[in-house]
Amino acid sequence: MKSKYIDFKQNKTYEELKAPAEAIKEGKLVLFPTETVYGIGADALNETAVKKIYVAKGRASDNPLIAHISNIEMLEKLVENVGKIEKKLIEKFWPGPLTIVFKKKKIVPDIITGGLDTVAIRMPSNIIARKLIQYSNCPIAAPSANISGKPSGTLVEDIIEELDGKVEYIIDSGKVEIGVESTVVRVVDNVVHILRPGKITKEDIEKMGIKVYIEKQILGEYKEGEKVMSPGIKYKHYAPNTKCILVYSKDNEKMVEEIKRLSKGRNVVLLSKNQNIEKYNIQNKLNMGETLEEISQNIFTLLRKADKYNADIIIIEGVEKEGLGLAIMNRLIRACAHEFIEI
Ligand code: TXA
Ligand code: MG
Repeated sequence: MKSKYIDFKQNKTYEELKAPAEAIKEGKLVLFPTETVYGIGADALNETAVKKIYVAKGRASDNPLIAHISNIEMLEKLVENVGKIEKKLIEKFWPGPLTIVFKKKKIVPDIITGGLDTVAIRMPSNIIARKLIQYSNCPIAAPSANISGKPSGTLVEDIIEELDGKVEYIIDSGKVEIGVESTVVRVVDNVVHILRPGKITKEDIEKMGIKVYIEKQILGEYKEGEKVMSPGIKYKHYAPNTKCILVYSKDNEKMVEEIKRLSKGRNVVLLSKNQNIEKYNIQNKLNMGETLEEISQNIFTLLRKADKYNADIIIIEGVEKEGLGLAIMNRLIRACAHEFIEI
């Protein structure tokens, strides 16, 4: 059966979110927008409903989900204790693209935490997401909307084929604002550990006078059996079917030369920054945009687009690993299965 489609791109009234909210209450799945990426939502406190998310995505059951809330009272129901640093982060960044890991209360079912004693919580700033949570009157567990291992959904057109029929409703509000998933953090001994980089950066948190540590595995390779702070690190992610190579140098011209060399005589699709795109004599070129904000917004949809060319390889220009660039490079390194040339 096809999913029911709600077009929220034109001015719609929030009343239209009442039907999908009812579906959430009944234990069904709803695809909805957030400011970062689209999510596949279910009532976070309903085990049977949350199980359906894992089935729809084909996701490993030990990879926990984020519970999305619309107000602070919901947080208090789900977590044991909100520490001083967490309170500061909440005041500064919620609602917004920051997920915080807390010690969970018993009420949170093991299925959403993958058996961990912690739960990841986020209050999205996207108003459709917040209204949906509010009308559903429960926290909504939601992973990024994509089949496990594939690029996250930032446009409904990109994911409708793989998810149609697997959810009761699809709420389409067009292109998302940020394009990479939320920053995931956990506070340990007054230090904020970044488990997944996103729009809220190390620098943003340090500006508040808080110490920040970036988990090493963010840019490196995960080795089988290694202890991880965030289970998501272990899994294949964001990968197109075509082989991808990421190329980066602080010296822009060097990077361009290396890409020209690599693409010679091969059937290539290139993802290039706007400021470089004219330099390449390559037939299939996709423009990532100019700023880190634009690149972040476009990256997942372009990885999917590039895959459609059936090329031998997709070559991708890297960006500096700072600020939002760290989040972009974290996704790209994994999309390329660590095939990363840095010169
Ligand atoms: O922007 C986002 O965060 C999007 C939108 C829909 O809100 N959601 C999202 O969810 O990206 P997902 O499931 O694709 O990624 C959740 C990440 C995974 O890397 C997971 O391992 C980590 O958060 N995570 C969840 N619960 C955790 C926990 N208790 N401890 C450590 N990491 C956790
Ligand atoms: Mg995901």
